[in-house]
Amino acid sequence: MTGPTARLGASASLDVGAEEQPIADLPPSSAVWCSGLRKRYRRQTAVDGVSFTVGRGEVVGLLGPNGAGKTTVIKILLGLVRPDAGEVLLLGRSARDPQARAGVGYLPELFRYQPWLSAAEVLALHVRLAGVTVPAAERRACLALVGLADRAGDRVGGFSKGMQQRLGLAVALVARPDLVILDEPTSALDPLGRADVRDLLLSLKARQVAVLLNSHLIGEVERVCDRVVILDKGRVAASGTLAELLGRRELRLRLDGVDSAAEERLAAAGAFTRDRDSFVVALPADPDATTVPDLVADLVGLGVRVHAVEPARISLEERLLDILRAGPTEERR
Ligand SMILES: Nc1ncnc2c1ncn2[C@@H]1O[C@H](COP(=O)(O)OP(=O)(O)OP(=O)(O)O)[C@@H](O)[C@H]1O
Ligand SMILES: [Mg+2]
Repeated sequence: MTGPTARLGASASLDVGAEEQPIADLPPSSAVWCSGLRKRYRRQTAVDGVSFTVGRGEVVGLLGPNGAGKTTVIKILLGLVRPDAGEVLLLGRSARDPQARAGVGYLPELFRYQPWLSAAEVLALHVRLAGVTVPAAERRACLALVGLADRAGDRVGGFSKGMQQRLGLAVALVARPDLVILDEPTSALDPLGRADVRDLLLSLKARQVAVLLNSHLIGEVERVCDRVVILDKGRVAASGTLAELLGRRELRLRLDGVDSAAEERLAAAGAFTRDRDSFVVALPADPDATTVPDLVADLVGLGVRVHAVEPARISLEERLLDILRAGPTEERR
């Protein structure tokens, strides 16, 4: 595959039925709106009735095991794969509309840039293909953002895997998109590179750029995503905000000198269980920022000695494994 913007700009047609779609009735805020996506490859059902939205400025994680259909969904959204059924709107427009596509940055899962071009030339090419004007200084800043400032003039053919992925990110971001779709952006990156991408995603969020992120690095998704959509065998197995999916938070404490007044104070914070000096207090999914420090201060005031205070929540990884192991019988959101 050659450069992704070239593919994006291609006139792949998508059966979105946009003519019949009452676009005015749909929420204007959606960066991605898709409904009833289906795709079969011979006897293999890759995508089986997938619907979800990504709001403007929202960062949504697309998760699921190998072969779940994540890349196929992304390619359908971008018009690179023709679905058997389903409808797609990007940035409030038909996914076929070149104006919608011009607002989308895309990092494909597998890609290869023209090896004879320099990194700077690859960016310039993609800016031209996107039909926008981005000054040279801004293109340089984009390369610097992905840590390639000092390799701008080097031929891409000599880039390492991680450097190619960094360049792919720069290509996805350079034309100032309103929506960025990243298919495993950090699979080849070193830990520092992953941390950089995390910061980069947070800065996109701060600038109200919508992001659809597919990654197997669940901790990464948990840190940056507002919502997640979990695919399994081509279907949406679960979706929601992290608070909705992960449920309530807990506060684990190790205390001594707990009398009935201190127990009353603990109960006021939430239902608690006790095992000798260990206490687990159930907190609401989104506790007030003052809940924990106030509780600790009050306990100390009541003469309790506080040895440990540890806020905890089931991790997204644990929840994901639960959902996938439970299979399609578990109650779905
Ligand atoms: N071009 C194709 N031809 C035939 N089958 C395909 C094609 N593309 C995808 N598939 C099949 O569709 C299913 C979903 O593949 P897809 O690449 O969307 O999975 P994925 O969730 O992105 O997986 P991974 O995490 O491994 O990237 C798989 O069973 C795959 O074999
Ligand atoms: Mg994939």
